[in-house]
Amino acid sequence: MKAAQINAYGDADQLFVGDLPKPKLAADEVLVATYATSINTIDWKAREGLMQKMFPWQFPVVLGWDVAGVITEVGSDVKTFKVGDEVFARPDIYQDGTRGSYAEYVAVRENQLASKPANIDFNQAAAVPLAGMTALQILRKLEVGPGKKVLIQAGAGGVGIFAIQLAKLMGAYVATTASAHNADFVKSLGADEVIDYHTTKITDVLHDYDAVYDMVNAIDEGIAILKPTGKLITISGYPTPEQQAGPQTVESGYLAATGEDLTYLANLIREDKLQIILDAEFPLTTEGIQAAHHRSESHHAKGKIVIKVREQPVASARV
Ligand SMILES: NC(=O)c1ccc[n+]([C@@H]2O[C@H](COP(=O)([O-])OP(=O)(O)OC[C@H]3O[C@@H](n4cnc5c(N)ncnc54)[C@H](OP(=O)(O)O)[C@@H]3O)[C@@H](O)[C@H]2O)c1
Repeated sequence: MKAAQINAYGDADQLFVGDLPKPKLAADEVLVATYATSINTIDWKAREGLMQKMFPWQFPVVLGWDVAGVITEVGSDVKTFKVGDEVFARPDIYQDGTRGSYAEYVAVRENQLASKPANIDFNQAAAVPLAGMTALQILRKLEVGPGKKVLIQAGAGGVGIFAIQLAKLMGAYVATTASAHNADFVKSLGADEVIDYHTTKITDVLHDYDAVYDMVNAIDEGIAILKPTGKLITISGYPTPEQQAGPQTVESGYLAATGEDLTYLANLIREDKLQIILDAEFPLTTEGIQAAHHRSESHHAKGKIVIKVREQPVASARV
């Protein structure tokens, strides 16, 4: 099968598309023929070798943590899904470097799968799992809800677009940071207040917040706008003991991918309650995957970057 892979850590030039065997299925896995995958910032951090402690992989490594496609094989223990089902997932990459989603076939554990909503296409579906579940799980940990004020940093980014919409669905008042040209965009997702981080310090305009969803490693500023009972979770940094010594709760947060949470998001999409915003689409070629990484590394994607792996089947086009 065709797969985008790396044989060494480094810059985007390390990425190339070549042939690899299809993954061999374990009993609890299904094989998905990939229609689309997406880029997350962790992809290029891992490509650079910054995640080696967390992921001690053997080369070649197929990167990619989002898949949308059709099941072509099921393992002997798989109960709920069958060949032909349209699904999406945030799969795990194994230590042997296999199962990344920049590939024509991805093996995914059954408990990480969800049925793809029929009202979105595969490109849109591939944009959801990692970013959408990260948005959802951290907002739940922040105990965002009616009457609560939350700051969502980087609202126009891959995680931010989902976090704004989900926080509004949870009933919260949402402030977010974005460049001026993205102000109307993040408002269209539901943000109540937008701070242009180039010109305005959040500490000058926000006070007594219940929650801060930090995606830009601005932990001190986040703590400064919290109530004493407030909570900050960062998904892009590691709070120091000093930052954790105050009355507020300050911690790092990580995604734990589950089919259950992805199904929760899929149901919101079916009800047209969650918009999926695509920044750009690239093909699964060496040039395409390198350009997609460069775009993500710009730190200014507006929504999600997707990689089209196969032509969409006609029946799956958006209705
Ligand atoms: N721990 C986990 O499980 C986990 C999971 C997912 C992501 N993450 C991390 O979360 C972070 C966000 O990921 P992402 O995929 O959403 O990133 P992304 O899509 O690359 O974010 C791009 C957005 O960031 C905004 N931005 C850039 N610098 C900013 C700043 N100083 N202040 C406010 N906004 C700024 C840009 O806004 P403008 O263009 O409007 O300027 C752009 O819309 C990354 O560090 C990623 O590694 C962690």
